[in-house]
Amino acid sequence: MRGYPALTMRVLVGGGTGFVGRALTRLLKDRGHEVTLVSRSPGKNRITWDELSRLGLPPCEGVVNLSGENVLNPLRRWSESFRQEVVASRIETTKALAKAIAGAEHPPQAWVLVTGVGYYRPSHTTKYTEDSPGGDFDFFSRLVTHWEAAAQIPGEVTRQAVVRSGVVLGKDGGAIAQMLWPFRLGLGGPISSGHQPFPWIHVADLAGILVHVLEREGVSGILNGVAPTAVTTTNKDFAQAMGSVLRRPALLPLPGFAVSAIFGPERSIMLLEGQRVEPKRTLESNYCFAFPDLPSALRNILI
Ligand SMILES: NC(=O)c1ccc[n+]([C@@H]2O[C@H](COP(=O)([O-])OP(=O)(O)OC[C@H]3O[C@@H](n4cnc5c(N)ncnc54)[C@H](OP(=O)(O)O)[C@@H]3O)[C@@H](O)[C@H]2O)c1
Repeated sequence: MRGYPALTMRVLVGGGTGFVGRALTRLLKDRGHEVTLVSRSPGKNRITWDELSRLGLPPCEGVVNLSGENVLNPLRRWSESFRQEVVASRIETTKALAKAIAGAEHPPQAWVLVTGVGYYRPSHTTKYTEDSPGGDFDFFSRLVTHWEAAAQIPGEVTRQAVVRSGVVLGKDGGAIAQMLWPFRLGLGGPISSGHQPFPWIHVADLAGILVHVLEREGVSGILNGVAPTAVTTTNKDFAQAMGSVLRRPALLPLPGFAVSAIFGPERSIMLLEGQRVEPKRTLESNYCFAFPDLPSALRNILI
């Protein structure tokens, strides 16, 4: 990110102990801001969800929610109870933060939620911007609709924004942590045909967009959290770029039936299908991507 902020902020981050939260916390601290996390477990510089609901919002100028049970945990069967956990961990935490903001004596300047591009209907051809319709056709799209609705607070005092993120790529978590070893061993490759779009973002840019929204007066509403070149990236492009950066063959496709067997048909949509998403409003808000193309992002992550 360019320049230094004029004012330091106190930022409350729900789910800030996770993969994106660690990158966001680092960036906020580097820029001189103070960070408090909301977590299920107590600890230093943290409050628990129970404390938030009992004591209300601690003094802060910015709030972000990143909480959510990991949907693609291969060790969890896609059962009704796991689906409920996936939903509740996002919607109940978002509601709790929105309620605390609405009830605060000194409301924060900015409130940002991260959801997902699962809002848009998977397609090989349609390109989506923040203005495109969606949110009403399957489990994940409806989840995003309810998640974003849970964040709404009345009034204009607090600026509200939602970042719809693509697959987040980074060193210490997310998709790459799960896929790295097959690729290192030369056993990586595209998922199924590999023709499905692969909407991706470097974790440093997702954290960057969140800080940009917190710091910039006037940035609000929906912002797509994908790299500018993600709109033309396919899963096969991703596999080839991984192979090329790691100097390994990446030709062995992971068959669709195997993905469905591991994750279940409903959840495997996230891997077998994808959306072509453009970060139109994100670029219009003058956010400058550090990693706009896949080779530079993967070199930064893997080398
Ligand atoms: N990573 C991606 O590729 C991606 C893509 C699109 C959208 N997103 C969204 O971005 C957000 C952050 O992603 P991430 O990869 O950083 O997530 P993560 O590391 O899997 O989890 C974030 C945090 O959520 C909290 N959490 C986990 N399970 C929970 C549960 N059952 N109830 C309440 N809290 C729970 C945990 O915090 P505590 O243990 O401290 O409570 C965890 O550190 C998530 O909402 C995710 O859906 C991520």
